[in-house]
Amino acid sequence: MKVQETGIVVSQKKLADGIYSLWVKTEQIAKEAKAGQFVSLYCKDAQRLLPRPISICEINREEGTMRFVYRVAGKGTEEFSGYRTGDAITLLGPLGNGFEKREKSGMLIAGGIGIPPMLQLAKELKETGAEVTAVVGYRDSHTFLADELKKVAKVYIATEDGSVGSRGNVMNAIADHSLSAEVIYACGPKLMLRAIKEFGEKEGVETQISLEEKMACGIGACLACVCKTVEIDDHSQVHNARICKDGPVFEAGKVDLS
Ligand SMILES: Cc1cc2nc3c(=O)[nH]c(=O)nc-3n(C[C@H](O)[C@H](O)[C@H](O)COP(=O)(O)OP(=O)(O)OC[C@H]3O[C@@H](n4cnc5c(N)ncnc54)[C@H](O)[C@@H]3O)c2cc1C
Ligand code: FES
Repeated sequence: MKVQETGIVVSQKKLADGIYSLWVKTEQIAKEAKAGQFVSLYCKDAQRLLPRPISICEINREEGTMRFVYRVAGKGTEEFSGYRTGDAITLLGPLGNGFEKREKSGMLIAGGIGIPPMLQLAKELKETGAEVTAVVGYRDSHTFLADELKKVAKVYIATEDGSVGSRGNVMNAIADHSLSAEVIYACGPKLMLRAIKEFGEKEGVETQISLEEKMACGIGACLACVCKTVEIDDHSQVHNARICKDGPVFEAGKVDLS
């Protein structure tokens, strides 16, 4: 069940240019959250009323803490990057559905700021005993989170400039190493997800993809975040689904990424 609460910043660390890692102590959200869900983070500046949706990167349920890894994209995330240990932050969550974990070999495929939710997912899958492979794509050698992923998964890296791993994107890394698995879990830009959906269909592999869209309410009330679906949606009776409430994770075959 989602709750709004005031969290306390435990730590803030810069991981790469414009990329930050924020650990927050919460009373309830960390206890209830699961991989693939997100949290809405509120700004203190009253000019920025809408919360910013950020994926859950890691959860420490015993300590009641959770981690967000985010890129400074605009004013809201810039404000977050200035938070220091002990600062208060208002959170609403956990939101969205999260990944459906299967006790089968899993290939986690992510690019850029789609990588953070894969760390918690890799940890949870590993706990089930599943074999976990992660294929992660970056622009350059700033391969944030890759070392942490290596502790729980076999990691393959692609970089656009070819400085680390395969040159190109995650699909190049998959082809270079002839990778496959029983389930694909993916998060990243739409173009990448389109290629992964096609790959999953060709391989006949269950493919779960996490979509991103600009959000306003974050709780299913405003329809700001709809995506096109193959079937008619129960809520709006059209070919739509709300990414914040019905997603962000969808079976790839159920969404139209054209
Ligand atoms: C489900 C989900 C999970 C996300 N997880 C992460 C993550 O783990 N790390 C990360 O760096 N980013 C993540 N994002 C993107 C992040 O929400 C935006 O970068 C952020 O909201 C930008 O806010 P801003 O004020 O800095 O930028 P501005 O451009 O000033 O934002 C203006 C408004 O547009 C909204 N907005 C702008 N870009 C996005 C976007 N891409 N998605 C949704 N709303 C947007 C903002 O929330 C705000 O209300 C996620 C987005 C979604 C939908
Ligand atoms: S952001 Fe309002 S319905 Fe999704």
